[in-house]
Amino acid sequence: MGLIRDLIHAGGTGGLSWHVQAYTSRKRWQPTVQLIEQFLTQVQPMSEHLVLIGASAGWMMPPPWLARFQRIDAYDIDPISAWLFDIQHGKRLKAQGMTVHHHRQDALATLPDLLNQHPKACVWFDNVLGQHRFRVRDEAQAEQDLASIKTTLQGRSWGSLHDVWSGPTDGRLLPAGLQVWRHDVTAKQALTPDFSQKLLASVGAKEAWHDHLSSHVFAPNTPTTWMPWAFKPNYWHWLQAGWVNP
Ligand SMILES: C[S@@+](CC[C@H](N)C(=O)[O-])C[C@H]1O[C@@H](n2cnc3c(N)ncnc32)[C@H](O)[C@@H]1O
Repeated sequence: MGLIRDLIHAGGTGGLSWHVQAYTSRKRWQPTVQLIEQFLTQVQPMSEHLVLIGASAGWMMPPPWLARFQRIDAYDIDPISAWLFDIQHGKRLKAQGMTVHHHRQDALATLPDLLNQHPKACVWFDNVLGQHRFRVRDEAQAEQDLASIKTTLQGRSWGSLHDVWSGPTDGRLLPAGLQVWRHDVTAKQALTPDFSQKLLASVGAKEAWHDHLSSHVFAPNTPTTWMPWAFKPNYWHWLQAGWVNP
């Protein structure tokens, strides 16, 4: 029973329903994937070892960025992610001489240990931190956990892409001319009500939006890039991405 529940939901954050959604939404998500690729292209860590947290099947992960590493340690709690990741990326990465090690593990609960196991690796949280509040189900705890990650990672080269808000929209499409949709501001500038209002208005936000409690993942002066994600035609997310060098 537990295994079946894990396959379907993977702790309420992924699982089969996520993979079906990702597979059937590939076309609608493509503009966001391009924005992620644009962001990651300018991230050039020195380390050849990547710890990839929330790897899932790498549905939104640009292959050229993965290919810059020699070794990847991919973490996910979802039992089918590793298999699907290998189908999507594994063959190509192996052909380029890379090794991918999969770990089925709660990487947030075990973050300090995991960092000790990979002392030279850089770390990318791949659209995972925005889900933390839905797993923890205690808002104050979730916000505190997310805000303290930067302290745990001090001295590391690391980055994250995560949901900050999500909610219903008027169903508009993400048109061409993607630069219009990308915003580059510091984490502190993003905290102003004017900024959030501008982002919500631009996607035709309706009714109440969820706050994923991830606004303090980055220190205030960190440069961040914001991009919309049409998760469902009428339900969008605003994602924040940033990279921190020690
Ligand atoms: C939105 S999906 C990630 C998308 C993925 N990066 C992609 O491109 O397909 C979030 C993933 O994070 C995983 N996850 C959530 N909490 C986690 C945790 N504490 N440790 C490891 N993985 C986690 C979920 O199982 C899910 O596969």
